[in-house]
Amino acid sequence: MRPALSRLSLAATLALGTAAALLSAPARAQALDAAGLQAIDTAIQGVAAKMVRWRRDIHQHPELSGQEVRTAALVAQHLRQLGMEVQTGVGGTGVVGTLRGGRPGKVVALRADMDALPMPENTGLPFASQAKASYLGKDVPVTHACGHDAHVAMLMGAAEALAGMKAALPGTVKFIFQPAEEGAPVEPDASGKVPSFGAKAMVEAGVLKDVQAIYGLHISSNLPSGVAGYRSGPLMAGSDNIHIHVEGRGGHGSSPWAAVDPIVAASQVVLGLQTVVSRQLNISQEPAVITIGQIQGGTRYNIIPDFVEMMGTLRTFDEGMRQDALKRITTTAEAIAASSGAKARVRFGPVAYPVTTNPAALTEASLPALKLAMGGKAAVIPKVSGSEDFSEFQKVVPGFFYFLGAPPKGKDYRTAPPNHSPLFDIDEDQLPVGARSLAALAVDFLQRP
Ligand code: NI
Repeated sequence: MRPALSRLSLAATLALGTAAALLSAPARAQALDAAGLQAIDTAIQGVAAKMVRWRRDIHQHPELSGQEVRTAALVAQHLRQLGMEVQTGVGGTGVVGTLRGGRPGKVVALRADMDALPMPENTGLPFASQAKASYLGKDVPVTHACGHDAHVAMLMGAAEALAGMKAALPGTVKFIFQPAEEGAPVEPDASGKVPSFGAKAMVEAGVLKDVQAIYGLHISSNLPSGVAGYRSGPLMAGSDNIHIHVEGRGGHGSSPWAAVDPIVAASQVVLGLQTVVSRQLNISQEPAVITIGQIQGGTRYNIIPDFVEMMGTLRTFDEGMRQDALKRITTTAEAIAASSGAKARVRFGPVAYPVTTNPAALTEASLPALKLAMGGKAAVIPKVSGSEDFSEFQKVVPGFFYFLGAPPKGKDYRTAPPNHSPLFDIDEDQLPVGARSLAALAVDFLQRP
């Protein structure tokens, strides 16, 4: 890895970057070059301080999935001030800004997610969240513990930088600010169904109409600072909620023969499900994970209850394996419960995110621009068993997703509190780095033949 980032940030002082430099040879389509990157970097450095202010403001005012009203208003106002066409209320509270370049060409999209998490913040930052909101009928603290505040600030910065280069842009850039990445904003109905949310709802609202490629990033405290982590093919797992209702027949704890004990049946189901990954799926192809994270049953030590409810998650890296695992989880749970006279009813959702997969062709084509924008600091990372609904966009158009390393200053990335920790924090110096990489990928895509 070539540590050239400090040199890149010097570009601001060189004053070389002008919109005209974006396309040094307008008649000839070509990938982003150093002069083009310098123009982008100059523009990004010009909004670096604003990005920090936006990030802190959004951090202090976090909003839960589907409730991103204040954040969406802030974004929409900014995009309007930049002279863009702005759509609001897209797939819920989503905002889309369209920047039409001065020259005809392709359409590329950049995406940031806007929502925060129902959890406390213990960072002690001067702009730490004190927000509360209602989540599934309970009052909960709300915190930007996944860095989506930084994603919004970076994309607002990239939007301002690219708006300043509008005349030279050969095509259109869509800025997609997405709600509800973290999950369904409402409780499922009796059948386990919820209305579409997040990326899926935006896709259904037509946000990808005419779009030829989409790019997005996730900030991470567990990668070295200023490094882009990427991989071709499956990057992040598909995620499916598992819900299992084990129906027995209640009775006295002293006479289990006169009852059907759903506690014992559910216990056997939990153990049996471990064989789906270890014995039933071909894990030489891709890894998979099944975790049961929640079990509820019974009210008293000597009462056999009527039923047990269990919730869990399935993580897969291949759509075929995912479909296979869903079937096998159902069959395994039903058959094990039946063996003791109980009945298992299995359903999946509301979270059902596909695998986040970077297509080989787009990855290969985008890497030179990513590496240029990162000063060479880009590295292939292992698969991530976490999930991302960016995959819903990738189902419709080629999309490239990557991580941006930004552990807090003075913290080792190997031990820094991870995303979703109440201690999660980032290095704000990486905001311009992320914004520059997004803008560079968009310009490069528009310029490439
Ligand atoms: Ni996230």
